[in-house]
Amino acid sequence: MPEFSTLPPLSLYIHLPWCVKKCPYCDFNSHAFDSGLPEDEYINSLIADLEYQLPTIWGRRIVSVFIGGGTPSLFSAESIHKLLSKIRSHLNCLPNMEITMEVNPGTVEQEKFNGFYEAGINRLSIGVQSFDDNKLQSLGRIHNADEAINALAVARQAGFENINLDLMFALPDQNIDQGLSDLQQAIDLSPQHISWYQLTIEPNTFFYSHPPITPEDDLICEMQQQGQQMLANAQYLQYEISAYAKNKQQCAHNLNYWRFGDYLALGAGAHGKISRADSGEISRYWQTRKPADYMRASAENKTSGREKVETAELVFEFMLNSLRLKQGFDLTLFEQHTGLSADCILAKCEQAIVDGLLQRKGDNFAATDRGYLFLNDLINRFS
Ligand SMILES: C[S@@+](CC[C@H](N)C(=O)[O-])C[C@H]1O[C@@H](n2cnc3c(N)ncnc32)[C@H](O)[C@@H]1O
Ligand code: SF4
Repeated sequence: MPEFSTLPPLSLYIHLPWCVKKCPYCDFNSHAFDSGLPEDEYINSLIADLEYQLPTIWGRRIVSVFIGGGTPSLFSAESIHKLLSKIRSHLNCLPNMEITMEVNPGTVEQEKFNGFYEAGINRLSIGVQSFDDNKLQSLGRIHNADEAINALAVARQAGFENINLDLMFALPDQNIDQGLSDLQQAIDLSPQHISWYQLTIEPNTFFYSHPPITPEDDLICEMQQQGQQMLANAQYLQYEISAYAKNKQQCAHNLNYWRFGDYLALGAGAHGKISRADSGEISRYWQTRKPADYMRASAENKTSGREKVETAELVFEFMLNSLRLKQGFDLTLFEQHTGLSADCILAKCEQAIVDGLLQRKGDNFAATDRGYLFLNDLINRFS
């Protein structure tokens, strides 16, 4: 049974589930809207949901907020302002905490972005994906490369100084030069952070039922190695599988997930995790996925599901997250964030060290280069 002397840091995730159109590779809970966004109703539902969940986190401090989607930048600055004002009035927020919002370059207007900045958003994550118009078209994106470059300029003009660009590689028919050229253009724009994801073909997507021709594995591997070198040469240091930051400007919100922190979840399809000091229980909960159902459920003060994370699952869940990080984890962090004694993982860690998958420096454990290459094997040792 876990026991907490201090609880893990607590973040807040808010899901805004609409997009102009569904991208063929996307399995996120996002819905194309055809007849106007029920913007006011949805924001009111998020606020009602927040108020309903408050007793689960009384007295705890929020360390970061992430407004994801979907395409949150479809919402007006006024709505985001109303939402953030309620969050500030209801929750004990860390001063200057990171507040990120995801942006699609096809939804950018200067005035709106000025409003997002004034509302308190201080980090933007822009979904560029590629700087090649043909590739953007084959990904079903609603914007071209110039609009993506413009989105960054508009964001900077509005005052944003902490910006992430999302890029994907291993795109349909992409060769190494094209993949690296995308990356070079992102680097040349000098954002604080780059997320460089390998395109995955997910079940329940259009690409799954109509698979495009994607590059062979050895080509992907070569593209990844050369790309990582380019990023490192430009001072973008990899700190997670797909995340690279300049000057240590890592994403605080995602770091909290990867360190097995707690997070409150608002919005359709959002997932949360909360630890309780009184019962020693860690539970997960999730919201219903369809926006209309979520709004109904919120009016009735219901979450869709909740389950206790059993002690037996905790070690695996912790490793699944923390070993994604280049810096791995400290034993004290393991104890604080799982409520378990470090003794329960030491033997498996030692064996992974003997097998060349894990390395130890003092109390810190991290995957070796080989362990990072075979990360699933390493993580599965803790199941
Ligand atoms: C939740 S999406 C939100 C971003 C925003 N809606 C947009 O697309 O502009 C976050 C990022 O995940 C990445 N992503 C989404 N689906 C992916 C897939 N199947 N494979 C790899 N990366 C993916 C994309 O880079 C995307 O920008
Ligand atoms: S815009 Fe983003 S969230 Fe929406 S469908 Fe495309 S990838 Fe998914």
